[in-house]
Amino acid sequence: MRLLQVSAEIYPLLKTGGLADIAGALPAALATAGCDARVLLPGFPAIRDGLRDGQPIGQFSLPWGETVRVLRGTLPAVPGAEGSPVHAYVLDAPGLYDRPGNPYEDAQRRPYADNHRRFAALGWGAAHLARGLDAAWTPELVHGHDWHAGLAAACLKFTAGRPVPVVFTVHNLAYQGLFSADVLGELGLPVSAFQVEGLEFHGQISYMKAGLYYADRITTVSPTYAREIQTPEQGFGLDGLLRARRNELGGILNAVDAAVWNPATDALITRHYAADQPAGKSRCKAALQEEAGLAVRKGAPLFTVVSRLAEQKGLNLVLAGIDSLVQGGGQLLVLGSGDHALESAFAHAAQRHAGSVALRVGYDEAFAHRIFAGSDVTLVPSRFEPCGLTQMYGLLYGSLPLVRAVGGLADTVVDADLATLDDGTATGIVFASFSEADYRHAVRRALALYRQPRAWARVRQTGMQQDFSWTQAARHYRAVYLAALQIPSRASS
Ligand code: ADP
Ligand code: GLC
Repeated sequence: MRLLQVSAEIYPLLKTGGLADIAGALPAALATAGCDARVLLPGFPAIRDGLRDGQPIGQFSLPWGETVRVLRGTLPAVPGAEGSPVHAYVLDAPGLYDRPGNPYEDAQRRPYADNHRRFAALGWGAAHLARGLDAAWTPELVHGHDWHAGLAAACLKFTAGRPVPVVFTVHNLAYQGLFSADVLGELGLPVSAFQVEGLEFHGQISYMKAGLYYADRITTVSPTYAREIQTPEQGFGLDGLLRARRNELGGILNAVDAAVWNPATDALITRHYAADQPAGKSRCKAALQEEAGLAVRKGAPLFTVVSRLAEQKGLNLVLAGIDSLVQGGGQLLVLGSGDHALESAFAHAAQRHAGSVALRVGYDEAFAHRIFAGSDVTLVPSRFEPCGLTQMYGLLYGSLPLVRAVGGLADTVVDADLATLDDGTATGIVFASFSEADYRHAVRRALALYRQPRAWARVRQTGMQQDFSWTQAARHYRAVYLAALQIPSRASS
């Protein structure tokens, strides 16, 4: 089965969040499941420069007259990963993509004014490849990720040729790619696409809605999120459409790339360790405390955050709980960047509690690995969370996740209560309502559990033994592809 994955980011070349981790791991996982998956990416500098053996295979014109060259090459392998290199198509369009820094925003954190063009190009690129731009390889199915790839489904729908099924995955419904109706003429789509039964959303053009409306199948990145987005509370105005499409919508839980995230082999951490040999973790913790400027105290439970600093992540709860966390003997380390108000609030807390609270502003992949390795508790108290990867990294690295019961967090962490401690299924601390009181209570429970070393060690070991491998997820995706292609899974497996 030949598949084209369409994504704006991909690990290890360009990453602003979990989308990149998933886009990076999925092609290899699908190959193991018997699919021939290639990727299509915008030619952001990091992606164009990282492409190996890039060769032009063709070009196409965009509706506003600009020409895009398409390069074909391979992606650099992740160290330790097995299997053959992943083939990638990259849109070489310096006028659209050659800008330093964040792929979506300028230095003032304003979305680029021509984002509608930058990601229409991605949609049209997918459509041209599906219509045979590369004579040597034509996908049978297109799989787009998030709003950046949303237009692909519409472009395919409105171009002549045999139907090519599209699967569209929602990684985060909060980011929708909304543009003024005035730019419709630039997109090369018929005026008839601009209606409620199409990509119109409250008078604007929505790339997310284009994906949701025109795709043959929709997936989200956890089963709980697939249900949540069908409600007005979490549907961002699209819940009606999602309810109408519920029979074509399902959740496939994200997985973890074991070549990148495994404390027994991770080249970025101080000492290796594993569920049955946890000794190295305390060395990682001491090294992390020292590196972060925290007091090197073995017995102080170290709570950590590795996150975009954004409203979604519920970090105002962490701020509100700092005093009681520190009074309870805990330490807090935050690695993140984004919202300036959150940055300065954490910086202020770090000043107030020098030695117990530390902040590192920025994006630092290697430091993130050292944090999971050295940390005791991974905090993810999100307002909403389509899947969340850091709680899974926390689990596998023996850092108990403390999470709110929402989205993929609810699907991946088992709260430590008397029953789950007794039957050995507990893996972390889960709290229900998005309130300071509930969050503080969860922190108190984590501190209390930490004071019971045997119970703590057991919960940690259960977490480290969780199976988040890609095998299962890849099988589920394959089943969705077969359904979109209308091939009965039994016959073709
Ligand atoms: P989201 O995609 O909503 O940001 P996820 O939990 O799915 O959340 O994925 C976040 C990814 O980005 C993880 O791989 C996490 O380790 C990484 N990450 C987030 N912030 C930082 C940071 N400041 N430095 C390094 N890695 C980060
Ligand atoms: C989004 C979501 C996050 C998810 C990631 C990868 O960024 O916010 O919850 O884990 O995509 O699917």
